[in-house]
Amino acid sequence: MDTRAHWDKAYTEKSETQVSWFQEVPARSLAMIAAASPQGSLIDVGGGASRLVDALLEAGRADVTVLDISQAALDRTQARLGEKAKRVDWICADITRWQPARQWDVWHDRAVFHFLTERPAQDAYLAALTAATGPGAAVILSTFAPDGPERCSGLPVQRYGAADLAARLGTRFALYDEAQERHVTPWGSTQSFTYVAFRRV
Ligand SMILES: C[S@@+](CC[C@H](N)C(=O)[O-])C[C@H]1O[C@@H](n2cnc3c(N)ncnc32)[C@H](O)[C@@H]1O
Repeated sequence: MDTRAHWDKAYTEKSETQVSWFQEVPARSLAMIAAASPQGSLIDVGGGASRLVDALLEAGRADVTVLDISQAALDRTQARLGEKAKRVDWICADITRWQPARQWDVWHDRAVFHFLTERPAQDAYLAALTAATGPGAAVILSTFAPDGPERCSGLPVQRYGAADLAARLGTRFALYDEAQERHVTPWGSTQSFTYVAFRRV
């Protein structure tokens, strides 16, 4: 099954709280985004059905884009937001094939980059990240940590510590914040995540 079909199936067959990555309130992401740029433009890469966009709109952020490979995920988020969905830019695309038409002040990705286990796909992601950000932009990433799960949604993942991510992004991105988080899934198990924030040099 290809990547798009995999994720469309996941979002079609499972409810919001039947996926391990569900968060009622994405508190750490919101805190890191607020610290990085209180009102700047933001793209949530692989935003899926996350409630991050709801909270950003609620906080008054005006320029928000959500990108995901799964139209089923975007449909779910748009349905939940109702009228407020019109205030968001929506992009259905594979991040490893996408060429951004603009730049954002903040790039946010929770649990997407770690699915790219092949070097060429990672390089394509990093090329999109570089094209979509300018000097001074913030990049907030979260991936499974070295002691986190080896798979998610039935797919293998690559696990990272903060230093691994800093090495992978290279010298154009300066690491200024990092955190470890024990995410509690809807069924009560815990998953170890690495969160990092970079400033584009
Ligand atoms: C584990 S979920 C995380 C969703 C969301 N970031 C959150 O925290 O709730 C991974 C998301 O990445 C999306 N995704 C996976 N591969 C992708 C790709 N190559 N390009 C864009 N989105 C992708 C999936 O559709 C899914 O919504």
